[in-house]
Amino acid sequence: MGYERSVSAPNHELSTETVWHVTMPEIRFGRDSTDELAFQLRDLGVDDDAHGLVVTDETLVDIGHADRVTEHLEAAGLSVDVYDESEREPSVEAAERCIEYVRESAGEAGYDFYVGLGGGSCMDTAKVARAVIANGGSPLDYIAEPTGDGKALTESGDPLVLMPTTAGTGAEISPVAILSVPEKEIKEGISSNHVRADAAVLDPTLTTTLPPDLTAKTAMDALGHAIEGYTTHEYDSLLRPTDPADRPVYAGRTPLTEMFSEKAIDLLSNNVRAAVHNGDDLETRENMLQGALFGAIAGLTAGASLCHAMAYPVGNRYHTKHGETIAVLTPASTIDYNAASDPGRFADVAEMFGVDTTGMTDREAADALQSQYVQLQQDQNVLPSGLAELADITEEDVDWLARQTVETQQRLLRCNPRPVTEDDVRDIFLDALHNWED
Ligand SMILES: [Fe+2]
Repeated sequence: MGYERSVSAPNHELSTETVWHVTMPEIRFGRDSTDELAFQLRDLGVDDDAHGLVVTDETLVDIGHADRVTEHLEAAGLSVDVYDESEREPSVEAAERCIEYVRESAGEAGYDFYVGLGGGSCMDTAKVARAVIANGGSPLDYIAEPTGDGKALTESGDPLVLMPTTAGTGAEISPVAILSVPEKEIKEGISSNHVRADAAVLDPTLTTTLPPDLTAKTAMDALGHAIEGYTTHEYDSLLRPTDPADRPVYAGRTPLTEMFSEKAIDLLSNNVRAAVHNGDDLETRENMLQGALFGAIAGLTAGASLCHAMAYPVGNRYHTKHGETIAVLTPASTIDYNAASDPGRFADVAEMFGVDTTGMTDREAADALQSQYVQLQQDQNVLPSGLAELADITEEDVDWLARQTVETQQRLLRCNPRPVTEDDVRDIFLDALHNWED
């Protein structure tokens, strides 16, 4: 039983957890679902003459996706402003600039509704802006101590709809927004059900423009959510909180999350090669977007674990993209190290990957999964072979990375199915320097 896994709660009954709970935005999925955005907003209570904000970035303006959304909303009688200065892996300052824009353009009370259009960075910027406008102050007020003041959000604010243009991050349904704090070389999450969007509109026609390298990287993030969610601890390995409000956001795997993990692993592992090499194929893109959504429902409810914990210090120091970092770390962390926690579950994942496990022990099947995963990376032609190729990381950098992981990522490490020490993390980083010979 993992009392230490009960992340947020001072008071627990001395009995195991018996309850699981899932919170989800409204989800609208499918080709040209963009055309139903105005309907979705009205369904959330947005008035006929409301004034809203689309939070996006310059690339999505250039491609034309931002125009598609604003023209649709204006045709439906709504008026919109566009904020196109979202940054990749946004910093606290980048979020503050968006909030400043809202206050200057629409006043302290902000807009009547918000649409976050883009990858995880645009969606997280929209999530933070909406939350801070509703609750007052600045993002740092709501980031955990000691970096921020650790205040709790109490309001969700005016309606927020998220529209992903990548198949990967899961930000459209997650209760977390990630911001970097560059001067400290760390990333912090604002984690609350008040950060979660009210609805997600997932339109695969917005994802065909994603270039091969970003397709690959975001897909491997999604696959990471699905595998980590499938292999994390069970919800009833925690103690039950005295107050249901203290139940952690990442509360372990449940029958619901397992179902979504299985489908996600199947869809993502069987479509990612085609999506990278033939990105115009809409059916493939639809499968990928669906797989990423299911992976997020699984992993971001059950809880991401060791691999995500190790990825943050790497991303902070070397400014690598989240998805490629997850791709590089998964074989050594999620698969090789964690397989010992429950080899049978990893044998299941191997089968979802299409490995014929007949005659293999569970451990052999888990090893075959690792080979198959690495093969999947190689076949995409755009992913680095390890941390060394990713960012010239060497053995000398590994001590710092391991220390940072253990010191700053306890929220995620508590979700790991196998206990992990700083020495373990160091060894896993060493293993991840080279997943294959260049
Ligand atoms: Fe992720």
